[in-house]
Amino acid sequence: MNKTITVLGAGYVGLTTAALLAHAGYKVYAIEPNKKRLDVIKTGKSFFFEEGLDPVIKQAIDSGNLIATDSYEESVPHSSIVFSCVGTPDNPDGSSNLTYVFSAAEQAASLMQEGAIYVQKSTVPVRTGERIIELFKSNGKNFPYVSNPEFLREGTALYDTLFFDRVVVGGSDKKAVTTILDTYRDLEAARDTIAALANVQSTPRKGKYIATSLNSAELIKVSANAFLALKISFANSIAKLADKVDADVVEVMDAVGADERIGRAFLNAGRGYGGGCFPKDVSGLISSGLENGIDLEVMQAAQALNRSMPGYVVEKLKNHIGELGDKKVAVLGLAFKSGTSDVRKSPGVAIANVLSHAGAQTVAHDPQANDEAKEDLRRDVVLSDNALQAVQDVDAIIIATEWPEFTSLDLVECKEQMRGTVLLDAVNIIEKASAESAGLQYIGVGR
Ligand code: UGA
Repeated sequence: MNKTITVLGAGYVGLTTAALLAHAGYKVYAIEPNKKRLDVIKTGKSFFFEEGLDPVIKQAIDSGNLIATDSYEESVPHSSIVFSCVGTPDNPDGSSNLTYVFSAAEQAASLMQEGAIYVQKSTVPVRTGERIIELFKSNGKNFPYVSNPEFLREGTALYDTLFFDRVVVGGSDKKAVTTILDTYRDLEAARDTIAALANVQSTPRKGKYIATSLNSAELIKVSANAFLALKISFANSIAKLADKVDADVVEVMDAVGADERIGRAFLNAGRGYGGGCFPKDVSGLISSGLENGIDLEVMQAAQALNRSMPGYVVEKLKNHIGELGDKKVAVLGLAFKSGTSDVRKSPGVAIANVLSHAGAQTVAHDPQANDEAKEDLRRDVVLSDNALQAVQDVDAIIIATEWPEFTSLDLVECKEQMRGTVLLDAVNIIEKASAESAGLQYIGVGR
């Protein structure tokens, strides 16, 4: 078995996987069809913001262990493993568009060497693997196919991949499953060296290696994301109640989450979840349920609750400053979470658009995502290069992303720049007392 790998698609998952495996004893081809992105990767950088990734790419490119290309012909025939990490954009109905998943599989299969393993890392609805195996067969191919779901988070992609909780590989070909699990053992053996290069904190954590059936692996991925989304929506529904009964959802979740059976993670209430994964995976799971005659009501409720959150935040603001027609509001935070420039399904963008639609003069600022947000924002939302400039003469500030820059905002200075006094903390990161001592009226979500 040669140690050459092709990774199809060099997005968040593909580029991270490719760059890391290139430091774990493999020669890795990363295929990226987008010329602009490819050119950036060839210079030893990523085309998106991800902490620690650039030095890892740079060294791998310089050593020749990572080769960025747009050519399947140059890479696939030499590889014993092909990872599919292509995008799965949204269909208008919220389901995943699998066009790239199928076309990548078909194109790779026509070039793969006998016995090479096809690994699906893109998030796909349960039973997609069965369809790809059928596609291979209809082309006279019989490659081992495994599902290897990805659990990394944007912003902590390297840490999550190196110091994983679990690696899941599912498929009926036991030898192929073992080979892919072993690939991650090679990565684990190199992890401290890579972490030092990336300046990522090392931990001695021992993750689990889990072999499953193909369909279970596919279902594990979406179920994990759906459960985390459920936790957030649960926290947000309690936050709405806390707002009514004058309780503090942060205190509630700290104590609820102290129960080890529940856990504190993903119980942070606020403006709801966004990103390229949770919204899509929740609707994907609902669709898979419906296709199989199962009504996943609990997920439908979580989704509806999440969709209500940006509007809920703006309603809260209106309760304090009145109709928005003659108001000016600053939205701080457009990325769907801190540590990334990604604005897909971002609650901050949604809040800015709801404000502007309601007639408020809206100024927005994000430390990383201004450029990426431009396209998704209504035309009359004005982008600002820094937070203090954004809050000039505003009636209210809404914090919509938990960037450290916003946690440490100079609130006294903000108050001086503003014409109003309202600070709506839609991610619950500011201490109420420090806002009040700066002369601001603090409003959280569920506090
Ligand atoms: C998520 C999962 O956490 C990863 O395990 C998974 O691999 C990834 O999706 C994927 O499927 O590719 P990601 O979308 O990068 O990762 O971001 P998260 O950190 O999970 O946050 C998702 C959203 O939930 C963000 O908008 C965040 O602000 C929000 N959130 C998170 C809350 O509102 N409250 C919380 O307590 C936690």
